This record gives sequence, structure tokens and C-alpha cells, in this order.
Amino acid sequence: MSLSTTVVMSERGLTPAQVAEYEKNGFLVLEGEVGQEELDAMEACVAEVVDEFVRAPGAVSVFSTKEQSRTSDDYFLTSGDKVRCFFEEGAFDGDGKLVEDPHRSINKIGHNLHERHAPFRAFSNSARVRGIVSSLGSFRDPRLLQGMFIFKQPRIGGEVGVHQDSTFLFTEPLSTTGLWLAVEDATLENGCLWAVPGSHRAVPAPRRRFVRNPDGPGTVFVPADDREPLSTDGAVPLPVPRGSLVLINGSLVHFSHPNKSDRSRHAFAVHVVDGACEYPADNWLQREDGGEHMRLDGRG
Ligand code: FE2
Repeated sequence: MSLSTTVVMSERGLTPAQVAEYEKNGFLVLEGEVGQEELDAMEACVAEVVDEFVRAPGAVSVFSTKEQSRTSDDYFLTSGDKVRCFFEEGAFDGDGKLVEDPHRSINKIGHNLHERHAPFRAFSNSARVRGIVSSLGSFRDPRLLQGMFIFKQPRIGGEVGVHQDSTFLFTEPLSTTGLWLAVEDATLENGCLWAVPGSHRAVPAPRRRFVRNPDGPGTVFVPADDREPLSTDGAVPLPVPRGSLVLINGSLVHFSHPNKSDRSRHAFAVHVVDGACEYPADNWLQREDGGEHMRLDGRG
């Protein structure tokens, strides 16, 4: 076997039938993509990140004070090239005290896990992910834009409202593609993804954009009024076992329900954009370090 054959095989992409299914539905479920060892390494990594976060002096109290809004804005808007923990909305009671153990109160870690921590980098920049993205045929210069770990904690894991990812990660022309990895089983009970098949064709551009507020702190939606809410007619649940990968078109209408169960629903989501497209300066997600978005070259 020649070296070039090996490389081609390791960059195994989607079959033509899978590409056709993805183009028709706007999503594609690939079961058994990531093995137990790699998933365990991701879990161990996030446990360490959270541990460090909750041990830091004042880490919890700063988010439960009156300053929460401003602090959270800054913390969120400067997270593009960092690894930071964000609390669940329902994590605090009326007195600003955590309802659950701090480890069970984190909503997500973002937004640069794909570069800064080995298990996530190895997956995000894997030959397989490069192969999948290449086989879509639309990317000239695939770049890893953000990587975040979503906990969907037992009982307090909040709903994710109906949205299109291109609302939050916009490029001109559109290129945003999500890779959503189930690090734990995602079930109807713990808040699996739901999607409207074909909605990326029915609503090909995002209805709204989520941008940095040009008139003050924080972020805003443009337009501010959601006059034409996205329809969830025909939505289907996407329950998937641990290790499954769900490919998501940036225009796909999707959402998830709150987790009312006693089991978490851990997932890692990484988004790829085309470096050949314009990445607007008003997108909420920017790098503080002025660096480029990491090239998806399949080298880990
Ligand atoms: Fe999404």
C-alpha cells in the first residue's frame, strides 16, 4: 500500500449516499464514530477544567452577584480563544446560592476547546473530520471556529430554543457546518437534539443574526424583533448513542428540550467555517489574540 493510498483512506469521507442524505435533510447521523477511550479522555479533560474553575477563589460568587450581567458579558465575549466555564441559568436560587454541586451546575465550556485541549483537538482536527468536511464539496479552506462542551445537566439542563447555527456563527456566503458529538447517550428523556428535516432549504439564510451590540455592552439580535419565528412543524428527535456524530447544516432549524431526567447529556460541538468566506467583525465570537481560526488539516 503506498503512502498516498494510506492518507486517502485515513481521510475517509462520506459516501455519495450520505452526502445526498445530508443535502436533503440538512443533518446526518453517523453512529459509532468515536471510541470509548477517546470519549473517556474528553470526560476526564472537562472534569479537570471544571475542577480548576470551581476551586478558583470567587469563581462562583462573581456570577451570582448584581454584577453578573456585565461580568458575564465580558467573560463570554472574550472567550473565543480561551477555555471558560459557563453556568446553567437555573444553577442559582433567589439568594444567589448554587442549587446543585458546582460540578453539576456548569452549562458549557467554550469556546476554544478544539485548540487548547488535546482530546478535543485530536478529534476536531482529525483526518476523519477533515474527510467528512471535504466530502461535502463546498469548502475551499475549512477552519475550526469554535469547540464547546455542553453538559445538559440532570434536572437543571436548560432548553436550547429553536435556532439556526448561522444566526450565531455567520459567514458571507454561508458556510457554517456543525459537528455534534454525543459524549454520552442522547435520549428523549435527557434532551436529545430535535431537527426539522429540509429546513435548511426552506429557510436557507439565518432569520436573525447574533452580534456584538454596536451601541453598548453585550450582544443583540438583528433584527431585534423575532417577527417571523422559525417553525418546528415536522421536527423529529435525534436520539443517538454515545460516540455518534451529527453533522448539522448552519441553516438547519433545530432545538433541544430541557433535561428533566436524572442523567446528564454530555456533547461536544465543533463548528467549521470556510476561511475563504467573509467572517464579519460584528459576529459575537471573535478572537482576542488576533489569531487566525485553526486550519482543519487533519493533523490533530
Ligand atoms: Fe445549534
